[in-house]
Order: sequence, then C-alpha cells, then structure tokens
Amino acid sequence: MCGIVGYIGSEEAAPILIRGLKKLEYRGYDSAGIAVLGAGGLEVCKSKGALRFLEEKIQSGTGKALTGSAGIGHTRWATHGEPSDINSHPHTDVSGKIAVVHNGIIENHAKLKAWLEAHGVSFRSETDTEVIAHLIDFHFNGDLLQAVLEALKRLEGSYALGIICEEDPERIIAVRRESPLVIGAGKGENLIASDVPALLEHTRDVYYLEDREAAVLYRDHVEFYSEEGEVRRKELSHVEWDAAAAEKGGYAHFMLKEIHDQPKALTDTLRPRLKTDGPPARRSISLEEIGFDGSWAEAGRVVIAACGTAWHAAMIGKYAFEHLTRIPADADIASEYRYRDPIFDRKDIFIIISQSGETADTLAAMRMAKKSGARIIAITNVVGSTLAREADLVMYTWAGPEIAVASTKAFTTQLMCIYLIALQFGLLRGTITEEGLPGYIDALEQLSGQADKLLADKETIQRFAYQQFNKSKVFYMGRLFDYAVSLESALKLKEVSYTHSEAFAAGELKHGPIALVDDSTLVVAICTQSALFEKMDSNIKEVKARGAATAVITYDDVSRFDKTADVVFRIPRTLESLSPILSVIPCQLYAYYIAVQRGLDPDKPRNLAKSVTVE
Ligand code: F6R
Repeated sequence: MCGIVGYIGSEEAAPILIRGLKKLEYRGYDSAGIAVLGAGGLEVCKSKGALRFLEEKIQSGTGKALTGSAGIGHTRWATHGEPSDINSHPHTDVSGKIAVVHNGIIENHAKLKAWLEAHGVSFRSETDTEVIAHLIDFHFNGDLLQAVLEALKRLEGSYALGIICEEDPERIIAVRRESPLVIGAGKGENLIASDVPALLEHTRDVYYLEDREAAVLYRDHVEFYSEEGEVRRKELSHVEWDAAAAEKGGYAHFMLKEIHDQPKALTDTLRPRLKTDGPPARRSISLEEIGFDGSWAEAGRVVIAACGTAWHAAMIGKYAFEHLTRIPADADIASEYRYRDPIFDRKDIFIIISQSGETADTLAAMRMAKKSGARIIAITNVVGSTLAREADLVMYTWAGPEIAVASTKAFTTQLMCIYLIALQFGLLRGTITEEGLPGYIDALEQLSGQADKLLADKETIQRFAYQQFNKSKVFYMGRLFDYAVSLESALKLKEVSYTHSEAFAAGELKHGPIALVDDSTLVVAICTQSALFEKMDSNIKEVKARGAATAVITYDDVSRFDKTADVVFRIPRTLESLSPILSVIPCQLYAYYIAVQRGLDPDKPRNLAKSVTVE
C-alpha cells in the first residue's frame, strides 16, 4: 500500500503535493518523492525515510528548484526493492521526460523488464514500477494518453498511477486497476489522490475512478476514458466526512478498516505466487521469487517461531505442515525459545514470522537458529526490516501498513504465506499431488470473496457484542486448528476490550478450566473440524450445564450445533485446514465491537506498542 497525489492548477504544485502526502503517510512511510513540471521541464526529488526527510531535502536546496504548477507525488510502502532514494517514486523513463507514481504490484514486471532490456533500456531501480515509465516511453509519440493506454495493455497486476510528461505538459493522466484512486474537482485546478483526505484542503467534489478507467486532468476540466480509449461520463460525488474519519477510509478506527482490508490483502498475498503452466494448462504455486527450490524440501523438521499473534499463526503452521507435508513441525514462542537449550539439526528449517520484522525476541530466536546452521525463511510485512535482511529467504505478506496495535490483516496474510509454503513443500515431498494441488489453490483463491461475504454481515456480530457486553469472562475453545484460532481470538479480545478472556483446548476443559465457568461466562466454541464435531458438541453441553452462554462458529452448511448452542455464527465452507482465515474474522469483529461499546480506543490499547523492539 502506497499513497499517490497529483495536482494541476495555478499554484505552486510542490507544497500542495507535500501537504497531500502528509495526509496519506498512514499508507506507507519508508520513502517519498515528488515530480514537478515547470518552465524548466520535469524536476524530480525523492528521499528514503519519512516525508520530513523529503521536505528537508527540498528546503535545503539539495533537491532541485521544483517550481511549476503541475506535479505528482508518492509516499511508499516498499514492495519490490528495499526502501532507498533510488527505489522511491516517482520513476522516470531513460530520458527523464516521463514521471510515474504507482500504488499496487505489477505481477509481470520481471518479464517486462527482460523485454525492455532486450530493447536497450537500462534500469536504475529494483522496483516493479520502473517498467511502467519505460513502457510508456516506448509507446510515446507526442500523445501521453495514447502511450499510457498502449502500455496498460501489457501490464498484469494492480495499479493506481499518476503520470506526467514534459512533452505533453498541460495534463496529468491517472488510471486505476484494483488500487484506489480519487479525482478531486476544484476551481481552476484538479487533483488526484489515493484517498479523500489528501483532497479536502482543495475540494469536497470528487470522482471515484472505477477499475480500468483513466482520467485526464487539465487545469479547467477532467475527461474520463475506459482503458480501451472510449469516452466515459462520470457523476460527481460530494464528500461529507470530516478529514480525520476519511483518513481511515471512512471507518471509525484503523482496526475496523484493517479487518475490512483482509479480502484484498489475501488476494495481494496470494496472487503473485500463483502461476499457470502448460499445456495442458495447470495451476501451480511459484515461490521462485523468494528463492525457494527443491533443496528446501529435504528438511528433517520445520520449526516455526514467533511472538503473540504471529505465534498463533505459527501454531496453525505446525498443524498445516503436519497435515499437508508429513514433516515433523514445531511452533515455538520466540521469547521462550531464546532462553531454552533447544536441539538443532542442520537439516532443520526455521520459519520466523513477524509483522514488523523488528520484534526483539523473534530476531534473537532467528539469530540462534542461524548460528546453528539451520536455514531461515522469514514471513514479514515490512520490506527491508531486520528480519527480512537477515533471513535466508523472505516471503512478504502484502497486507500494507498495519496501524492498529492489534494485529488482524497481518495474521490472516501470514496464514496465507504458511499455506503456500506448506503446499509447495507437500508437492516437492509427494504428499500433495499435481492433480490435488489445483483444489487447494481454488480454495485459497476463494478465501478473499468468502471473507468479503463474512464482513458484509458484520452487523450480526455487532448486535451479538451489544447483547453480551456485560459478560465479565469470555472463553474460546476449539480443537486443533480451532484451538489456535481460539488463542488468537482470546488475545484480540483481551488486548482491545480488557475483558478477561482465555482460550482452552476443548479436550482440556475437564482437566481444570471448567471450574471457572459460571453464569457470568460466555463460551465461544470454534467448530470447523468435522471429525471432532461430536466431541465439541459434548463440550458445549458441559459448559452450558454450568450456566455459560454459548456461541458456536461453524460452516454455513452445518446444523448440528443449532440445538446445542444459544447462537450459531456461520462462515462459508472451505477446506478444514484453511478455515482459520475465515473463523478468526467474527472473533476480530467481536473484540472490536466490545471495545467500542466500552468506550475504548481499539487502535491504541493501554500498555501496548505496535512493535516490541525490547525484551
Ligand atoms: C497482537 C499483536 C502482538 C504481535 C506481537 C509480535 O494483536 O499484535 O501480539 O503479534 O507483538 O509482533 P510482530 O508480528 O511484529 O513480531
């Protein structure tokens, strides 16, 4: 996730672009840049780090003059290529006449790069975006719009783009496919932005671009086209929100926004790792991008280490590896692991999971494993983080910045990465067949739409949260995958609502925890493992008999709990090993709504920090 802005009007563009980027810094903050078109042609200034470093560079004059009344800007959340001056946007063509800012991922960039290099283009950055600038230049014949439309035909993936050109200086071109872009219609000026708050200083009249639409911004009007070049008519919308709400995309809190980001984050994490081989056409997983080859599958054991929510993803990883690959697998709490006297084998593979890539305990566990000679795969959300730099292989979760302290979209995208790695291991070791793999891929692809469907019905969870608001104890229980989701659900609830919540492996209930159950307790049973439905049914009856209110989360085609539990929440049917990605969503929503009902700020729970870089 990155932020883009653009301005064409009668004022100096640079300060307007910087103020717009400030409103979008929540979308990414590892580097920033602007390009301005003035009498002297196109000038670009960019800098690694937070926006203030770019401002300092411009003010100190290290950046160029940057005068002119048209320009584009970008604040980056690195995807391809580490945060650096050179990888920052805008990117330009070889001659420096065309500048591009981009939010999204160009999936076929490697192929396009090879093609452009074969045509004599030399690349400066490691980004996927740079291919766009060169492709537009390749097709440029004096008309920027035509060149952009031609270039788009060759792009696969997602993008919101802002483009300017010194040889066609009276307009900005903006296009989108699966990444947000809004056009602000001002008086004698027009703007583009990834999100409304960057526009509000200038206008509340906006056009929302649809997928595969292009906008051409002149100073006094805006034209719209399809990607095929047909003229489109669009209705103006008037924005009523206040600026603070708009920064969260209209959601009341980042936590709720990030819960809603999950369908897209899941697709963004999955899609670049899929490929179709053939003939005959056959879908498979490609982890070449992370350097994963057959030698990794010779592992004797997989150890997955992490902290907090990421450790819950690790537990699910353990179950997934055992189930899909038959490799012995362990999940370890990194803060415990580092002080144990663990036994290493050089054939072990370590998977280290961390949203931030900076958690001190997790890094320490990784370093211990590395010292022992084991090989390390990192799963992280932050490009260029310490974990990413020190691991042997890195698989990024393409979730975009997670701002709320409580982790939501990082968790589900971590699971997506784990499933992809486990399936690839399974394929290499023969526990998954080439014929069987497409079934898993289909199920993984469906998860995004299924998550969307669940979120569309969030009011059901909201109503339930309001009814259960007074419960002083909330326990989650489940078996296998459902136990790991119970741990994550209990953590979410305690973090943001300060409710006393715990998770139990349902089979352990009678060994102690049932002593805590009384009529002030809500027990949420997560039931997605059909071989254990009967056992779960008995456990629900046991807690109900002790006065607990009971809720069940199960599939939409399962009715066996309807008579046992007080209320049943349904998730779409998926493969049982993949169910955690869906079953956790109602629990995330429940935690959020309880916090809001209690008047708490779910984005900033007391005593917690987003990144725990100390022991
Ligand atoms: C819980 C949460 C924490 C983190 C933990 C590890 O919602 O966010 O438990 O999961 O601090 O952080 P990372 O993943 O950055 O290593």
